[in-house]
Amino acid sequence: MSNKGNHTQSRLRNFVKSNAASPVLHAHSAAPDKIESENGFLSLEPDTLLPQVLSTITRLRESSSVSDPRVALMLDDGFNVCFPSFAVRALTAWHKAFKGKVKPFFAMKCNPDERIVRALREGGDEGGNGVGFDAASRKEIMGCLGEGGEGGEKIIFANPQKNVSAIEYALRAGVNVMTFDSVQEADKIARVARAEGQRVEVVARILVPDQGSKVRLGEKFGATPSVAVDLHRHVLEAHRDVLDFVGVSFHVGSGVRDVERYSEAIEIARGVVKRVNEEGGDCWLVDIGGGFPGWGGGGMVIEDIAKCIEGSIEEMKSEGIEVIAEPGRFFVEGAFAVVCKIFSVRELRGGGREYFIAQGVEGVFKDVILCDEVFIPVPLREKGDDKFFLKGDSVPCTIRGPAGEADIVARCNLPKLQAGDWLVFNRMGAYTMSIAKAGSNFETIYV
Ligand SMILES: Cc1ncc(COP(=O)(O)O)c(C=O)c1O
Repeated sequence: MSNKGNHTQSRLRNFVKSNAASPVLHAHSAAPDKIESENGFLSLEPDTLLPQVLSTITRLRESSSVSDPRVALMLDDGFNVCFPSFAVRALTAWHKAFKGKVKPFFAMKCNPDERIVRALREGGDEGGNGVGFDAASRKEIMGCLGEGGEGGEKIIFANPQKNVSAIEYALRAGVNVMTFDSVQEADKIARVARAEGQRVEVVARILVPDQGSKVRLGEKFGATPSVAVDLHRHVLEAHRDVLDFVGVSFHVGSGVRDVERYSEAIEIARGVVKRVNEEGGDCWLVDIGGGFPGWGGGGMVIEDIAKCIEGSIEEMKSEGIEVIAEPGRFFVEGAFAVVCKIFSVRELRGGGREYFIAQGVEGVFKDVILCDEVFIPVPLREKGDDKFFLKGDSVPCTIRGPAGEADIVARCNLPKLQAGDWLVFNRMGAYTMSIAKAGSNFETIYV
């Protein structure tokens, strides 16, 4: 009982294959370590970020809308700065590292900012070699469809547990590829697909080792390899009229520290694909998920991961398997800075200081409590000779958010600051605004 042949009509497959070999992939000889923004030169480093922030504050103060309550609030509490061009440069770096062989589907949950989504969809100056999207909810699907509702074929509904109404919405929006990891979910998707008169390509989310990553996801999602093979049998036997089992996906956890996690996981995925295809299946997709480190920082870089899995990717390609990924953090971590005004200072008896700001662990710093993330700011003063605090000693300090005793954003050493000085947190684009309590985000200024 084979289901072979359907993939020739797969809209997702056509999208993945459409610009994989675009010559613009090689337009840049090296991924730049500094990136150019629309307004000048920008890198993640404070020496170029801080002047940009300072000129943004000056622009706000001098703008005719300074009496606008939103602008007043930005100058009182703070704001986000977003550099969409950063995400586009990261896309160039991605294509270069993977030689155009791994199509990225940006994980919306990481940061669904409209301008970022648009920049990544269009691919910027990369000649239209834009990304697809991994959406985990109806809201995320809405956020990555084009203005006229187009682009469903570039979206994977990558949440193994979905609402019936969200599946209906997805199908009506032209999103026909979904992940699942249980018989119950396959039955649910099939029921909705029949009612909607549509076919769905299903991708089994499998469980892979995720030790050592900052945020492990294996407890919540993923079928073991043998269960995944059983799921294929179930799809063939019960739902061949509406479902095509097209491949497997995995996630090695967010913030991976060890490149080996990817090669281990790929071998497990290939094992499942092989067994499924031996049983008459027609898998053509391996989705290697997210977990890629933010671009532009130190530490492990995607080039290390790309090098480590290059051979496996080549082999899969030669077997007719397309490889895609769902990076989130990689594209956006460095594309945002959060700029907070110190509204209060308290000097402690032991010599330390406490600085109070309007963002805290219920806002963009939620990962401080969720996964022990560390955010260390650099200070900025609007007036005076030493705006960037190049001179002077540092003292131990605690940075406190607005929510109460336990709202501690960071403990670090900083110069002696005053109320009215600013704290600039860079690399703030991943799992910050998107997971903050509703209504707690600052306004965003695009640079
Ligand atoms: C299914 C899925 N894909 C992709 C991502 C993005 O991961 P990252 O931002 O680590 O690349 C996540 C993050 O939780 C996820 O759950």
